[in-house]
Amino acid sequence: MRIAVLPGDGIGPEVTREAVLVLEALGLPGLTLFDGDVGGIAYKRHGHPLPEETLTIAKACDAVLFGAVGDPDCDKLDRHLRPEQAVLGLRKELGLFANLRPAKVFAGLEHLSPLKPEIARDLDLLIVRELTGDVYFGKKGIRQNESDEREGWDMMSYSESEVRRIARVAFRSARLGDCRVCSADKANVLETSQVWRDTVIDAASAHPDIDLTHMYVDNAAMQIITNPAQFGVILTGNLFGDILSDLASAAVGSIGLLPSASVGDRKTEHGLFGLYEPIHGSAPDIAGQGKANPMATILSVAMMLRNSFGKEAEAARIEHAVETALADGIRGGDLGGTHGCEAIGAAVRERL
Ligand code: NAD
Ligand code: IPM
Ligand code: MN
Repeated sequence: MRIAVLPGDGIGPEVTREAVLVLEALGLPGLTLFDGDVGGIAYKRHGHPLPEETLTIAKACDAVLFGAVGDPDCDKLDRHLRPEQAVLGLRKELGLFANLRPAKVFAGLEHLSPLKPEIARDLDLLIVRELTGDVYFGKKGIRQNESDEREGWDMMSYSESEVRRIARVAFRSARLGDCRVCSADKANVLETSQVWRDTVIDAASAHPDIDLTHMYVDNAAMQIITNPAQFGVILTGNLFGDILSDLASAAVGSIGLLPSASVGDRKTEHGLFGLYEPIHGSAPDIAGQGKANPMATILSVAMMLRNSFGKEAEAARIEHAVETALADGIRGGDLGGTHGCEAIGAAVRERL
């Protein structure tokens, strides 16, 4: 089991360290970890946020554990040299077009959510976010317009084949639950979304067991807060999925709790190749202070073991340990608690 570990910037190395310790505590035989630089740190060391060497390591592994990238010192660099290009580049280069972001309120932990307990209780959804298309990867630029002002532009597009393949991932994921898929788009305004919606409807015709609904994304954001129980899988594009997933994390209680898996078509001898990362960023405001909650990254390791290595029992052990730690009152500052990153990691390992 070859795993590339790419800690990145800010709190990335802090949370990744705890997640690796949890992984190692399982004592799985045949585990080899390979380290690589990504993000601002990679730019500072090698002149590029995603050095060729890191990409080579990632490609040679069965899975990637990614921390976070982003460094305020780098925000003035040319866009192609900014830390964020590392995660975008990995997603594109590794063909990871499907991003799975589960958001769930654990039983008995409704009080961590800012929602009313009777609403929070039923929040258990999966955002299936398209990850290698949309306005993220379209042509972009800054031009001088007729009024001689700077004008920024970014091209948003989705092709039918891009939509069809992510829709299939959503349908497959929904079958693991109760077959509900809600596609969130902006078809009332955007042609990109019209193609998205038409294609999702067409793709669903071969899947009659799927209960497909459609919602405008602005309404979906509102409904996640007011009536999360109606959602099973939320299928959406790259930009909308980015925003809805931070929103869903806040409804659960903290962005420090949400893991993610990014997958494509590539298989390894163990299972599906994937990149696993918390949904949060490098959190420069708390970096270096030992305050970050590593649970999202630890839960990403669980997703890795399940999806990329077929190790359901070990994945469940990790998830149960995190849930138990939370139930026992182990909380980072993000959840109003006082436990630091290392203490949270240790508490999870004790409960494995
Ligand atoms: P962020 O997710 O880094 O932080 C948002 C807020 O949540 C901050 O107040 C932060 O302290 C808090 N937070 C985040 N993770 C936490 C954790 N594990 N424990 C406790 N608190 C946590 O988002 P941002 O501030 O908008 O972005 C900071 C940098 O991270 C930017 O450079 C951005 O581009 C980058 N970013 C990277 C990724 C990634 O690597 N996949 C994801 C999101 C943002
Ligand atoms: C995420 C992040 C990234 C995204 C950024 C850092 C490129 O916000 O993983 O959610 O927008 O996808
Ligand atoms: Mn994001």
